[in-house]
Formats: sequence, C-alpha cells, structure tokens
Amino acid sequence: MLILGIETSCDETAAAVVRDGASVLSSVVVSQIEDHAQFGGVVPEIASRKHSEAISMVVQAAVNKAGITFGDLEACAVTRGPGLIGSLLVGVSAAKGIALALDIPICGVNHVHGHLFSAFLEHPDLQFPFVGLVVSGGHTSLYYVKDPLRVELVGKTRDDAAGEAFDKVAKLLGLGYPGGPVIERRARLANGHTEPFPRALMDKTTLDFSFSGLKTAVLRRVEKLCGVCQNRNVHGSFHQLIPNTESNESAALVNSLAHGFQEAIIDVLTTKLFWAAERYHVDHVVVCGGVACNDALRQRVQDQGQAQGVRTIFPSPVLCTDNAAMIASRADTLLAALGGDDLGFSAKSRW
Ligand code: KG4
Ligand code: ZN
Repeated sequence: MLILGIETSCDETAAAVVRDGASVLSSVVVSQIEDHAQFGGVVPEIASRKHSEAISMVVQAAVNKAGITFGDLEACAVTRGPGLIGSLLVGVSAAKGIALALDIPICGVNHVHGHLFSAFLEHPDLQFPFVGLVVSGGHTSLYYVKDPLRVELVGKTRDDAAGEAFDKVAKLLGLGYPGGPVIERRARLANGHTEPFPRALMDKTTLDFSFSGLKTAVLRRVEKLCGVCQNRNVHGSFHQLIPNTESNESAALVNSLAHGFQEAIIDVLTTKLFWAAERYHVDHVVVCGGVACNDALRQRVQDQGQAQGVRTIFPSPVLCTDNAAMIASRADTLLAALGGDDLGFSAKSRW
C-alpha cells in the first residue's frame, strides 16, 4: 500500500511516502529549530504558525520526491497525538483534506508508537516481543511490545523528559538550543574530568524515571562554582561561568559539568532499559527518539547488550528525530489490522 505520512506534533513539519510499511520513497523534514532557539525551547504558538506556513510545500515535496502523483496514493497517515495541540491540528486538518479529496482511507497514528516501530524500517528482522525505550524532548518511556497491536507502557518519567533535561541544562550553561548535541560535544571534550551528579529512582521496584532532581543538582553545582547566585544573565545562564568569550578554565568546567550530567542520564536510561529486558524476559531492545542520536548512549547500550546477550537496535539518527516515514510505516500495520479512521477523529494532545 502506498501511504502518505504527515507529522506535525512538535517543531518539525514532515511528510513522507512509504510503500508497504517498509520502503521509504521520500521523507521530507523541515525543522523550526532556528525559530525557537532564541527562546531556549519550543514556543507552541510559533510552532503552529510555522507548520501552517510549511505544510503544503512539505507534502508536495514528499510527493514529488517519491516520483508519484497524488492520484497514486492509497491512504493518508497522520500523527494524531501526543504533542502540541495547535501543531497537531495543522497536520490532522491537512491529512483530512487530502483523504477527503482523494477519497482514500485516513489513519491517525500515535507519535510515540511511530518512534517505537520505526526500528522495523531498517531492521525488518526485529523480533516480538521486545522492550522499547522512547527518549526524546517530550517523552522518556519504556514499553513492553508483545506484538504489533499490544504495546504496554511499563515505565515513564515522573517529571522532565531526558531530552528536556538536556535542553534545560544547556540553557542553564548558556550553550543554546537544542541542548542534546551541544552537551554531547562538550562532554566529549572533558578528557576524563567529570562532576558527580545523583541518579534518581535507581531501585528495581520501578521502571519510572525522574530527571528534575538532576537538573536542580546541576543548577546548585553551578551556583556553588560561581560563588554567588546572582550572576545569571537575562537568559538565565551564568555569565561568570560562561562569559561571552570562555576562558580555558571556564570552558573546562562546562565540559566536566556536561560530562557528569550526560553520564548520569545515560546511566539511568541504560540501567532501566536492561532491567525492563530482564523483567519481561526479552532479548531484543530498541532505543529511539531524539536522545537516541547520542553516541555515548548508543555505545553504553551496545556494550551492555553484548555483555548480556541482548540484541540492541537503534534506528539511524534521521529516523530517531521526528519524521513522517515512521508515521506512514506504522499506519500500514494499523490499516491492515483495523481499517481506517472515521474522518471525524480529532487530535489528542495527551495519549
Ligand atoms: O524526537 P525529537 O526530535 O523531538 C521530540 O519528540 O522531542 O527529540 C528532540 C530532543 C531534544 O530534547 C534534543 O536535545 C534531544 O532530542 N537530542 C539529543 C541529541 N540530539 C537530540 N539528546 C542527547 N544527545 C544528542 N546527541
Ligand atoms: Zn518525537
């Protein structure tokens, strides 16, 4: 089945054409990162306006790149939620218009499930059941995936998502947005120097996560290193530690803070992932979402998987961050099993 996928849940306007859930004919992603960077995070009103401006062009580009015409499409898939409601509505409205005009089925897809099942695009031999960790700016959740239609949430963050923690700590350190890539880069420069930070909820009785204490611990450490709490500049970062031109000393300090923070996050994510694998007796695990682009996390999970005889799968970075290929691919399974949705369905900010 030839499916057009549309994704607008956060700050990427994306469309893709996928054949039979497996073959990606095109995948177009227009990022709004630069529009949000000056605010240190995604501004919902700006996001929905930018989606409205981009959506027609992005869908047309996906159709053109796939070398097809609209008339060839057999179904339309769209992210229904969870996400920013104004952003979701842009994609859902566009998809409904296309499905109505072409008289083809429409399928509303859960964004997080889209991430989870994106692993099949590059690893069609992935076996059920598996444990999946979706770790992004909006989510840090563990799933026990019994089969394509039985996806059980077994652990989630009780406060900040891991990506959100990366973004907030980067803002605090004056490193810009998005935080993940720049913190990873600074951590790599730490040369073995690190700052010790706490790991929360590290007992086997729960697969939930908590990162807000870690974020506060970084804040307290920075305040102590600065000597005073008043040295924040207008953006909330610390200009004594992070002046416009960093001295070697302050740069080294930022590197070791970034390293210690990243190590704490990686430690918790990896430990809980393998606890889940053990609890549910699975020997396949998937890690996906924007934070799964992090090489240090990939390395740690791979090493532990090898040591424990567990196969570890990471989609490639273009599939880890938000995209519409994963939405179209997931819809192929849903349409085959459950049929299309009624055109009256609405977007769901929480799901
Ligand atoms: O999946 P995604 O593109 O959008 C959401 O659904 O949130 O993930 C974006 C998140 C941001 O918080 C960003 O800081 C984080 O993923 N991220 C990373 C890395 N690249 C992106 N976090 C850690 N290390 C990275 N290399
Ligand atoms: Zn996402």
